[in-house]
Amino acid sequence: MATRQAIVSIFIFLVFNIFLLVVCHAAKPSLEAKVSALNQFSTNNKGVVELDSDLYDEFVAKPRNYSMIILLTAMEPQINCQPCKEFDPEFRLVAKSWQSSRNEHSRLYFGILDFKKGREVYAKLNLNNAPTMFYFPPTTGPYAKEISEPNRYEFNRRGFSAEGFASYLSGHVGIQVPVKRPINFFAIFVSIFVILGTLAAIKLLYPFIKKVFQNRNTWAAISLVIILMMISGHMWNHIRGPPYVLQNNGQISYIASGFSNQLGMESQIVAMMYRR
Ligand SMILES: *[C@@H]1O[C@H](CO)[C@@H](O)[C@H](O)[C@H]1NC(C)=O
Repeated sequence: MATRQAIVSIFIFLVFNIFLLVVCHAAKPSLEAKVSALNQFSTNNKGVVELDSDLYDEFVAKPRNYSMIILLTAMEPQINCQPCKEFDPEFRLVAKSWQSSRNEHSRLYFGILDFKKGREVYAKLNLNNAPTMFYFPPTTGPYAKEISEPNRYEFNRRGFSAEGFASYLSGHVGIQVPVKRPINFFAIFVSIFVILGTLAAIKLLYPFIKKVFQNRNTWAAISLVIILMMISGHMWNHIRGPPYVLQNNGQISYIASGFSNQLGMESQIVAMMYRR
Protein backbone atom coordinates (compact mmCIF):
# COMPACT_ATOMS: atom_id res chain seq x y z
CA MET A 1 0.00 0.00 0.00
CA ALA A 2 2.98 2.28 0.57
CA THR A 3 3.78 2.32 -3.16
CA ARG A 4 0.22 3.34 -3.98
CA GLN A 5 0.42 6.21 -1.53
CA ALA A 6 3.74 7.29 -3.03
CA ILE A 7 2.28 7.22 -6.56
CA VAL A 8 -0.70 9.31 -5.47
CA SER A 9 1.46 11.89 -3.74
CA ILE A 10 3.79 12.11 -6.77
CA PHE A 11 0.74 12.53 -8.97
CA ILE A 12 -0.66 15.34 -6.79
CA PHE A 13 2.76 16.99 -6.75
CA LEU A 14 2.93 16.90 -10.56
CA VAL A 15 -0.56 18.28 -11.01
CA PHE A 16 0.21 21.08 -8.59
CA ASN A 17 3.40 21.96 -10.48
CA ILE A 18 1.63 22.03 -13.81
CA PHE A 19 -1.03 24.22 -12.28
CA LEU A 20 1.64 26.63 -10.97
CA LEU A 21 3.37 26.70 -14.35
CA VAL A 22 0.11 27.54 -16.15
CA VAL A 23 -0.75 30.31 -13.68
CA CYS A 24 2.69 31.88 -13.94
CA HIS A 25 2.62 31.63 -17.69
CA ALA A 26 -0.76 33.33 -17.90
CA ALA A 27 0.36 36.10 -15.55
CA LYS A 28 3.58 36.84 -17.41
CA PRO A 29 3.31 36.50 -21.17
CA SER A 30 6.41 35.24 -22.93
CA LEU A 31 8.49 37.39 -25.22
CA GLU A 32 7.10 35.52 -28.23
CA ALA A 33 3.53 36.29 -27.14
CA LYS A 34 4.35 39.97 -26.60
CA VAL A 35 6.06 40.34 -29.97
CA SER A 36 3.27 38.60 -31.84
CA ALA A 37 0.64 40.78 -30.09
CA LEU A 38 2.64 43.92 -30.91
CA ASN A 39 2.97 42.85 -34.53
CA GLN A 40 -0.73 42.22 -34.79
CA PHE A 41 -1.78 45.49 -33.12
CA SER A 42 0.57 47.63 -35.17
CA THR A 43 -0.20 46.08 -38.56
CA ASN A 44 -3.91 46.45 -37.93
CA ASN A 45 -3.62 50.10 -36.99
CA LYS A 46 -1.16 51.80 -39.39
CA GLY A 47 1.84 51.13 -37.18
CA VAL A 48 0.31 52.37 -33.91
CA VAL A 49 -0.35 50.18 -30.86
CA GLU A 50 -3.27 51.65 -28.89
CA LEU A 51 -2.56 50.90 -25.23
CA ASP A 52 -4.44 50.82 -21.96
CA SER A 53 -2.89 50.57 -18.49
CA ASP A 54 -2.62 46.76 -18.60
CA LEU A 55 -1.13 46.61 -22.08
CA TYR A 56 1.32 49.35 -21.13
CA ASP A 57 2.58 47.31 -18.18
CA GLU A 58 2.77 44.19 -20.32
CA PHE A 59 4.77 45.65 -23.22
CA VAL A 60 7.07 47.74 -21.08
CA ALA A 61 7.93 44.80 -18.79
CA LYS A 62 11.34 43.21 -19.28
CA PRO A 63 12.51 41.30 -21.19
CA ARG A 64 12.15 43.31 -24.39
CA ASN A 65 14.05 42.46 -27.55
CA TYR A 66 12.43 45.49 -29.23
CA SER A 67 12.56 49.26 -28.80
CA MET A 68 9.29 50.86 -27.83
CA ILE A 69 8.35 54.51 -28.01
CA ILE A 70 5.27 55.40 -26.00
CA LEU A 71 3.31 58.64 -26.27
CA LEU A 72 1.29 59.48 -23.18
CA THR A 73 -1.30 61.91 -24.40
CA ALA A 74 -4.71 63.37 -23.62
CA MET A 75 -6.91 63.76 -26.67
CA GLU A 76 -10.25 64.18 -24.94
CA PRO A 77 -11.88 67.45 -26.02
CA GLN A 78 -12.71 68.52 -22.47
CA ILE A 79 -9.02 68.37 -21.46
CA ASN A 80 -8.22 70.62 -24.42
CA CYS A 81 -4.52 69.75 -24.67
CA GLN A 82 -3.39 71.80 -27.66
CA PRO A 83 0.16 70.36 -27.95
CA CYS A 84 -1.32 66.84 -27.80
CA LYS A 85 -3.48 67.63 -30.81
CA GLU A 86 -0.53 69.18 -32.57
CA PHE A 87 1.78 66.21 -32.05
CA ASP A 88 -0.70 63.36 -32.61
CA PRO A 89 -0.67 63.43 -36.45
CA GLU A 90 3.13 63.79 -36.49
CA PHE A 91 3.57 60.74 -34.24
CA ARG A 92 1.19 58.70 -36.40
CA LEU A 93 2.99 59.83 -39.55
CA VAL A 94 6.32 58.49 -38.26
CA ALA A 95 4.65 55.24 -37.12
CA LYS A 96 3.09 54.78 -40.55
CA SER A 97 6.34 55.59 -42.32
CA TRP A 98 8.13 52.99 -40.19
CA GLN A 99 5.43 50.44 -40.97
CA SER A 100 5.80 51.00 -44.71
CA SER A 101 9.60 51.05 -44.65
CA ARG A 102 11.75 48.05 -45.47
CA ASN A 103 13.26 48.00 -41.99
CA GLU A 104 12.83 45.03 -39.69
CA HIS A 105 9.53 46.11 -38.12
CA SER A 106 9.96 44.11 -34.92
CA ARG A 107 12.84 46.36 -33.87
CA LEU A 108 10.60 49.28 -32.97
CA TYR A 109 6.99 49.67 -31.91
CA PHE A 110 4.93 52.85 -31.49
CA GLY A 111 2.48 52.92 -28.58
CA ILE A 112 -0.11 55.53 -27.65
CA LEU A 113 -1.62 55.65 -24.16
CA ASP A 114 -4.46 58.12 -23.80
CA PHE A 115 -5.21 59.58 -20.37
CA LYS A 116 -8.76 58.24 -20.69
CA LYS A 117 -7.49 54.64 -20.73
CA GLY A 118 -4.30 55.07 -18.72
CA ARG A 119 -5.13 56.91 -15.51
CA GLU A 120 -3.31 54.26 -13.45
CA VAL A 121 -0.11 54.73 -15.45
CA TYR A 122 -0.34 58.52 -15.21
CA ALA A 123 -0.74 58.20 -11.44
CA LYS A 124 2.05 55.64 -11.09
CA LEU A 125 4.52 57.77 -13.07
CA ASN A 126 3.36 60.88 -11.26
CA LEU A 127 2.73 62.61 -14.58
CA ASN A 128 0.82 65.85 -14.63
CA ASN A 129 1.47 67.14 -18.09
CA ALA A 130 0.82 65.82 -21.55
CA PRO A 131 2.11 65.00 -24.04
CA THR A 132 4.95 63.03 -22.48
CA MET A 133 6.95 60.46 -24.42
CA PHE A 134 9.27 57.68 -23.30
CA TYR A 135 11.68 55.58 -25.30
CA PHE A 136 12.26 52.06 -23.91
CA PRO A 137 15.44 50.41 -25.24
CA PRO A 138 15.67 46.65 -25.80
CA THR A 139 16.99 44.64 -22.85
CA THR A 140 17.74 41.33 -24.57
CA GLY A 141 18.47 40.05 -28.04
CA PRO A 142 20.94 41.28 -30.62
CA TYR A 143 20.16 45.00 -30.12
CA ALA A 144 20.09 45.03 -26.30
CA LYS A 145 21.35 48.25 -24.71
CA GLU A 146 23.40 48.48 -21.55
CA ILE A 147 21.10 51.17 -20.22
CA SER A 148 17.63 49.69 -19.87
CA GLU A 149 16.01 52.79 -18.33
CA PRO A 150 13.48 54.68 -20.41
CA ASN A 151 14.53 57.99 -21.97
CA ARG A 152 12.20 60.97 -21.91
CA TYR A 153 11.70 62.92 -25.14
CA GLU A 154 12.32 66.65 -24.66
CA PHE A 155 9.56 68.44 -26.53
CA ASN A 156 11.02 71.85 -25.66
CA ARG A 157 14.34 71.06 -27.29
CA ARG A 158 13.39 68.75 -30.13
CA GLY A 159 10.01 70.15 -31.07
CA PHE A 160 6.77 68.71 -32.30
CA SER A 161 7.60 67.90 -35.93
CA ALA A 162 7.76 64.39 -37.34
CA GLU A 163 11.28 65.10 -38.63
CA GLY A 164 12.67 66.04 -35.20
CA PHE A 165 10.97 63.05 -33.64
CA ALA A 166 12.24 60.66 -36.32
CA SER A 167 15.83 61.87 -35.96
CA TYR A 168 15.59 61.31 -32.18
CA LEU A 169 14.38 57.75 -32.81
CA SER A 170 17.08 57.10 -35.39
CA GLY A 171 19.70 58.08 -32.83
CA HIS A 172 18.31 55.80 -30.13
CA VAL A 173 17.34 52.76 -32.20
CA GLY A 174 20.49 52.97 -34.29
CA ILE A 175 18.73 52.68 -37.63
CA GLN A 176 17.29 55.30 -39.99
CA VAL A 177 13.65 56.02 -39.12
CA PRO A 178 12.05 57.60 -42.20
CA VAL A 179 9.35 60.26 -42.54
CA LYS A 180 7.22 59.92 -45.65
CA ARG A 181 4.91 62.90 -45.83
CA PRO A 182 2.00 62.50 -48.22
CA ILE A 183 2.10 64.99 -51.12
CA ASN A 184 -0.21 67.91 -50.44
CA PHE A 185 -1.82 68.41 -53.86
CA PHE A 186 -4.12 71.10 -52.52
CA ALA A 187 -1.19 73.30 -51.41
CA ILE A 188 0.55 72.82 -54.78
CA PHE A 189 -2.66 73.76 -56.57
CA VAL A 190 -3.12 76.90 -54.45
CA SER A 191 0.49 78.05 -55.00
CA ILE A 192 0.22 77.62 -58.78
CA PHE A 193 -3.05 79.54 -58.71
CA VAL A 194 -1.53 82.42 -56.70
CA ILE A 195 1.57 82.64 -58.95
CA LEU A 196 -0.52 82.67 -62.14
CA GLY A 197 -2.86 85.28 -60.60
CA THR A 198 0.06 87.55 -59.69
CA LEU A 199 1.53 87.26 -63.20
CA ALA A 200 -1.86 88.07 -64.76
CA ALA A 201 -2.26 91.12 -62.48
CA ILE A 202 1.20 92.40 -63.42
CA LYS A 203 0.40 91.98 -67.10
CA LEU A 204 -2.92 93.81 -66.72
CA LEU A 205 -1.45 96.70 -64.72
CA TYR A 206 1.77 96.87 -66.72
CA PRO A 207 1.10 100.28 -68.38
CA PHE A 208 0.46 101.82 -64.96
CA ILE A 209 3.45 100.17 -63.27
CA LYS A 210 5.67 101.27 -66.13
CA LYS A 211 4.53 104.86 -65.72
CA VAL A 212 5.25 104.86 -62.00
CA PHE A 213 8.71 103.39 -62.51
CA GLN A 214 9.61 105.81 -65.27
CA ASN A 215 8.42 108.82 -63.31
CA ARG A 216 11.22 111.07 -62.02
CA ASN A 217 9.28 111.94 -58.86
CA THR A 218 9.15 108.30 -57.76
CA TRP A 219 12.94 108.00 -57.88
CA ALA A 220 13.40 111.45 -56.34
CA ALA A 221 11.21 110.44 -53.39
CA ILE A 222 13.02 107.15 -52.89
CA SER A 223 16.45 108.82 -53.05
CA LEU A 224 15.38 111.55 -50.66
CA VAL A 225 14.16 109.08 -48.07
CA ILE A 226 17.40 107.07 -48.29
CA ILE A 227 19.57 110.20 -48.05
CA LEU A 228 17.66 111.51 -45.04
CA MET A 229 17.86 108.14 -43.32
CA MET A 230 21.60 107.95 -43.81
CA ILE A 231 22.63 111.49 -42.82
CA SER A 232 20.30 111.65 -39.84
CA GLY A 233 22.00 108.71 -38.15
CA HIS A 234 19.35 106.11 -38.78
CA MET A 235 22.05 103.59 -39.63
CA TRP A 236 23.81 104.27 -36.34
CA ASN A 237 20.53 103.60 -34.52
CA HIS A 238 20.04 100.40 -36.44
CA ILE A 239 23.45 99.11 -35.44
CA ARG A 240 23.70 100.37 -31.84
CA GLY A 241 20.01 100.24 -30.84
CA PRO A 242 19.94 103.24 -28.43
CA PRO A 243 16.79 104.11 -26.41
CA TYR A 244 14.21 106.21 -28.25
CA VAL A 245 14.10 108.98 -25.61
CA LEU A 246 15.63 109.32 -22.17
CA GLN A 247 13.89 110.30 -18.98
CA ASN A 248 15.71 111.87 -16.03
CA ASN A 249 14.17 113.69 -13.07
CA GLY A 250 10.79 113.66 -14.80
CA GLN A 251 12.30 115.49 -17.78
CA ILE A 252 12.30 113.86 -21.16
CA SER A 253 15.36 114.48 -23.27
CA TYR A 254 15.28 114.00 -27.04
CA ILE A 255 18.91 114.91 -27.68
CA ALA A 256 21.70 112.88 -26.10
CA SER A 257 24.41 114.76 -24.26
CA GLY A 258 28.03 114.25 -25.24
CA PHE A 259 29.58 113.62 -28.63
CA SER A 260 29.54 110.03 -29.71
CA ASN A 261 26.02 109.37 -28.51
CA GLN A 262 22.53 109.72 -29.85
CA LEU A 263 18.95 108.82 -29.05
CA GLY A 264 16.38 107.23 -31.38
CA MET A 265 14.24 110.33 -31.71
CA GLU A 266 17.24 112.56 -32.31
CA SER A 267 17.75 111.19 -35.80
CA GLN A 268 14.12 111.87 -36.68
CA ILE A 269 14.44 115.48 -35.49
CA VAL A 270 17.62 115.90 -37.52
CA ALA A 271 15.95 114.39 -40.58
CA MET A 272 13.07 116.86 -40.31
CA MET A 273 15.54 119.75 -40.02
CA TYR A 274 17.51 118.68 -43.10
CA ARG A 275 14.30 118.49 -45.08
CA ARG A 276 13.91 122.24 -45.09
C1 LIG B 1 12.28 39.16 -30.76
O1 LIG B 1 11.85 37.88 -30.42
C2 LIG B 1 10.80 37.36 -31.20
C3 LIG B 1 10.38 36.03 -30.63
O2 LIG B 1 11.48 35.23 -30.35
C4 LIG B 1 11.25 37.25 -32.66
O3 LIG B 1 10.21 36.79 -33.45
C5 LIG B 1 11.69 38.63 -33.12
O4 LIG B 1 12.19 38.56 -34.43
C6 LIG B 1 12.75 39.20 -32.20
N1 LIG B 1 13.03 40.54 -32.61
C7 LIG B 1 14.25 41.01 -32.81
C8 LIG B 1 14.37 42.41 -33.23
O5 LIG B 1 15.24 40.31 -32.68
